[in-house]
Amino acid sequence: MVLALVVTVSAADVELASDDLWSLGVVAVEERAGSSDTTVELWTSLGEEQESIIAALKALDREWTWRFQAVDESVSETWRDYATATWVTGDLVVYPAWIPRPESATATAISIDPGATFGMGDHPTTVLSLRALQALPTHGAAVLDVGCGSGVLAIAACLFGASQAEAIDISPAAVPTTIANATRNDVADRVNVSTAPLADVDGSYDIVLANILAPALIDLSGDLKRVLSPSGALVISGILAERHDHVLAALEPLRVVQRYELESWTAITLRW
Ligand SMILES: C[S@@+](CC[C@H](N)C(=O)[O-])C[C@H]1O[C@@H](n2cnc3c(N)ncnc32)[C@H](O)[C@@H]1O
Repeated sequence: MVLALVVTVSAADVELASDDLWSLGVVAVEERAGSSDTTVELWTSLGEEQESIIAALKALDREWTWRFQAVDESVSETWRDYATATWVTGDLVVYPAWIPRPESATATAISIDPGATFGMGDHPTTVLSLRALQALPTHGAAVLDVGCGSGVLAIAACLFGASQAEAIDISPAAVPTTIANATRNDVADRVNVSTAPLADVDGSYDIVLANILAPALIDLSGDLKRVLSPSGALVISGILAERHDHVLAALEPLRVVQRYELESWTAITLRW
């Protein structure tokens, strides 16, 4: 049995609540009818660590009710049957490790099994982060992926020529998953993954990637600036388009050099 998180919201709040859950790191959200005509249940999973899930939900500061419910693992895995490849750009595709590699002679193809982590590559914030990364000079770069989830961004950086990628996540599940995905894509020798807090990361990185919820980006802003080299680029994502001003204020004096938008999500590249 695994733990499902069931969030009950009014029908009008479904989109907002789904966006919030995605940005907390869920892999899939299933909508089910609530107990009344006006409510909807959003069934999802944030792993098995109840205390950190409760803390994350409290940080959202929403009025929604929620509960944990034990479910059969096979039920929580049904999304896998419907997972498809995501074309990030014409020459970059992320595909589920359990389906055949998409046919393309020229595209970079990243094979990912997210396990219980976030990062199948299909969420707009991941797509936008990958587009932003693809536009940067990655050859020989030292890269830091903050909130690596499945490791998809760190792996992409290595496939684009980065010399090393340090990947960190507060979720312990990210460590074996990122190692397995890096191995699957033949870059395990260049990806180092841990649950080290960003505050403990030393060094100076040419590219820092952080696809994390806006409040976390604000909390981490001092350390994100500390680890960014003077000529480096910081890519932030995980922010809804209308909610990024306070994130940018926390990251000053870094300045915005590029914005990417998809659906209601944003990724932003910043430099000194
Ligand atoms: C939206 S997912 C991004 C996953 C992947 N990088 C991607 O782009 O698909 C955010 C990840 O950040 C992690 N996270 C949240 N707060 C964090 C923090 N303070 N330090 C490190 N990781 C954090 C979560 O556990 C989750 O795996």
